[in-house]
Amino acid sequence: MNSKEVAGCRAAEFVEERMVVGLGTGSTAEFAIRAIGQRVGAGLAISAIPTSEASAALARELNIDLTTLEANPHVDLTIDGADEVDPELNLIKGLGGALLREKIVAAATAYQIIIIDPSKQVDQLGTQAPLPIEVVPFSKSLVVRHLAEQELNPVLRMVAPDQPFITDNGNFIIDCSFPAGIADADGTDSWLNSIPGVVENGLFVDMTHLVVVGNDDGSSQLIERT
Ligand code: A5P
Repeated sequence: MNSKEVAGCRAAEFVEERMVVGLGTGSTAEFAIRAIGQRVGAGLAISAIPTSEASAALARELNIDLTTLEANPHVDLTIDGADEVDPELNLIKGLGGALLREKIVAAATAYQIIIIDPSKQVDQLGTQAPLPIEVVPFSKSLVVRHLAEQELNPVLRMVAPDQPFITDNGNFIIDCSFPAGIADADGTDSWLNSIPGVVENGLFVDMTHLVVVGNDDGSSQLIERT
């Protein structure tokens, strides 16, 4: 087992009978979904809300019952990955491009578990990973201008030289970087979301209850929000 699988399997143990469970997105979340699928195969009854089309497809393959936020607006537990986690358990997410649905599901969740390998732990957000921002395509140049004015190095995410990455919601992603890191995650989150055309950004502030860090030796560390 590698560190991501260790974290995913450990977090899957928190799922209980009849829970509504948010399913994250990314390579670490995939291990958690597979571990949940195994438990469902053994008789565990849950309903799940996926945070991306990819996670929905995987859940269907594993015979995990899917539901929606309309049918179940209160999610008991969500297990998701992250790109950076700081000591206050604030996050950068969205390198996989699913940040909007991830943030919506996190906001509906009573207990959010983030699963990572040790490389995702940072002293300050923005020092290792770019910050993804989901924007309505029509607004791209305006948002890029705002970000460039603040010297945040905006780059439109591409899948081919002439083909922008398109999210599950039909939007673009602009990745930006903070030369000195992000000192005020809450203020940065609010500022970014105030730019017209920005749908959401990858800062997750005060949304995480528990971080599970998996290690390659099979051990894991649980860090609870204080
Ligand atoms: C998906 O949009 C992201 O938020 C992922 O949760 C994050 O990028 C972590 O992905 P990995 O587990 O693949 O590193």
